Amino acid sequence: MSDTTINTAEVDISGLSKRYGPEGAGVQAVADVDLHIASGEFVAIVGASGCGKSTVLRILAGFEPATGGTVTVGGAPITAPGPERGVVFQDYGLFPWLTVHENVAYGPRRRRLSRARVRELTERFIRTVGLTRFADKYPGQLSGGMQQRVAIARVLANEPTVLLMDEPFGALDALTRSDLQTELKRIHIETKTTVVFVTHSIEEAVFLADRVVVMTGGASHGVPGHISRVVTIDLPAERDITSPDFNEYKREISDLVHAVADHV
Ligand SMILES: Nc1ncnc2c1ncn2[C@@H]1O[C@H](COP(=O)(O)OP(=O)(O)O)[C@@H](O)[C@H]1O
Ligand SMILES: [Mg+2]
Repeated sequence: MSDTTINTAEVDISGLSKRYGPEGAGVQAVADVDLHIASGEFVAIVGASGCGKSTVLRILAGFEPATGGTVTVGGAPITAPGPERGVVFQDYGLFPWLTVHENVAYGPRRRRLSRARVRELTERFIRTVGLTRFADKYPGQLSGGMQQRVAIARVLANEPTVLLMDEPFGALDALTRSDLQTELKRIHIETKTTVVFVTHSIEEAVFLADRVVVMTGGASHGVPGHISRVVTIDLPAERDITSPDFNEYKREISDLVHAVADHV
């Protein structure tokens, strides 16, 4: 495979429900979730705390089984985690005893690729996230933003068809966060990988996504978490967060998140 290989797959969620704990006594976290995500699409999921965003993402990652419905990636049902679904969470999950290069090479090595291919993928994605000069450093020697860049490079080196991100920039300062958003956008345009991105930040969702999925409900509202609206962001790829159109989307989505939260 060359640098221009495109790895991407569609995601299909149909009638998904998830209960934690025993039937009748557990917590019904989400119910009736239907969502089709096209290959190469960038979808953000927003909603108040507890509405089930992370639950949906963990099921897509294969960390957690659904209790109802079906979820497929590239047409295949999800039964376990797999390298074709790259997962980036808020804590970087890097190996502190390995250098940046070794952290990124870890996945390709486990896939038993040739030495040359491992090196090619590792160097390419370290370059993609702008860390070539830091390849021999250890995670502890890097800032939080740089560590999160390593985490992104590490999953990209597995050539995932889908990138699953849960509040990946939530722990970063505002400036670093905005840099990484711009960078993720560029990476998405370059790799065409399908992205499912969970965030608390409506602005981040409108900046990044082709569509924003609004979830409401959740155990504390007495109804399971569910999708209340999907908003298509009809803005150019280069987005100006100060433009009237951008702010109109922010207002619309904010109203959906809050209005429904008050009424369910
Ligand atoms: N492992 C678990 N065991 C029991 N309940 C859980 C577990 N994980 C999440 N929940 C509950 O499921 C609901 C949805 O949680 P979560 O998906 O983490 O929401 P979000 O990411 O939107 O904040 C919440 O009510 C939460 O308390
Ligand atoms: Mg969460």
